Amino acid sequence: MHYYDIQGIQLTELADKFGTPLYVYDANKIIEKIGILRDSFKDVNIKIKYACKANTNLSILKLMRKHGVEIDVVSPEELRLALMAGYEGSQITFTPSGVSFDEIELAAEIGARINLDNLDVLEAFGQLYGNKKGALIRIKPHVFGGGNEKIMTAHPESKFGISIHQKEQILEIVKKYDMKIIGLHQHTGSDVKNADAFTQAASAILEMAKDFKDLEIIDLGGGFKVAYKDGDITTNMAELGAVLSSAFLNFCQEYGRPLQLWFEPGKFLVSESGTFLTTANTVKKDPIKTFVCVNSGLNHLGRPMMYGAYHDIFNASNQDASQQDDYRVVGYICETDTFSWSAEGQQSERRMNTVNKGDIIAMKNAGAYCFSMSSQYNSRIRPAEVLVINGEAKLIRVRESFEDILRNTVEVDV
Ligand code: LLP
Repeated sequence: MHYYDIQGIQLTELADKFGTPLYVYDANKIIEKIGILRDSFKDVNIKIKYACKANTNLSILKLMRKHGVEIDVVSPEELRLALMAGYEGSQITFTPSGVSFDEIELAAEIGARINLDNLDVLEAFGQLYGNKKGALIRIKPHVFGGGNEKIMTAHPESKFGISIHQKEQILEIVKKYDMKIIGLHQHTGSDVKNADAFTQAASAILEMAKDFKDLEIIDLGGGFKVAYKDGDITTNMAELGAVLSSAFLNFCQEYGRPLQLWFEPGKFLVSESGTFLTTANTVKKDPIKTFVCVNSGLNHLGRPMMYGAYHDIFNASNQDASQQDDYRVVGYICETDTFSWSAEGQQSERRMNTVNKGDIIAMKNAGAYCFSMSSQYNSRIRPAEVLVINGEAKLIRVRESFEDILRNTVEVDV
């Protein structure tokens, strides 16, 4: 269903007030999703670690913290943002992939929980800290799950984690340095449609966990599937919560003590909170199709061009559905940058209420991996961001300016 306002503020009013292109986030939606996740796992000791790569705006991080959500970071810069948002080191999980040991050490020194994801860093961590600092190990469970091959992370050929088939090597290193392994981690992938992938991965991790004596945590990652359009398959959180909680509680009983169950969702918490507002620069009637050219492109919202991702698009300036047309919604970047992809992953048209030049064209599910993946390609500035909270629209990032394009450029004589 399309919506024309956020907490009673019209999308067109937001566009007028803050200009376009503009990212707008609805705080209520984020709070609602936190509640759904907690309710689904109410029988276990769950900790939510927001995978902040999805959206690192400081105000979003602060909102998460205020609502009891901790944080998962993947770079020293995200770590710093988490600290700035008020998180303590111990509330931060560092889940990097293939980084230099310096970054791991930095995170360890501030007291972050670390997911070690290869045998080399496991050994280096053991050598340096022995049993003085606990760590988690990221396991690759050899499970297939994820919306497309680019966002599947637990299958046999994935670069992530230490293969479950290397258990003996892991145990050898742990023993050699008397390491304190406080948790096992796995992340299946993103947009995981098939709930079986979560349960398969969980049972693989829980089976392996029996061989580790110091565990406090089982971390099952993120990847819950949200709806990108009406009728989409989504992860049934109540069902998944029941199945995983019971498997987890059985494991704890067998293990001999209660553990914490961690999740680190990104999309689930923020995807649906975001709306991207653009303006139709022109409606171009071609003999074959009609293009709506908006004042943005793959530089701002790259998911369609990068993954063939479906983002619902509608005309926020025209609620009259009696006259509609098929439009190919494209950007202003000097290469193909189609926003309107079909459910089958092809560039296609969308049926929309008649679009006129100047209309506000809105794109949904713009809260996760949209601004955070934006760039300055074509030397274009990045959009502003607004958070609607308690019925008020607040600017949480100003639009870039030409100075931001030039920043760090060093001009030399040539
Ligand atoms: N945990 C780990 C270790 C991850 O690598 C990720 C995402 C998450 C949690 C959160 O996954 P989520 O709940 O958001 O699905 N740019 C892509 C998604 C890449 C996901 C990367 N890792 C996209 O726009 O679809």
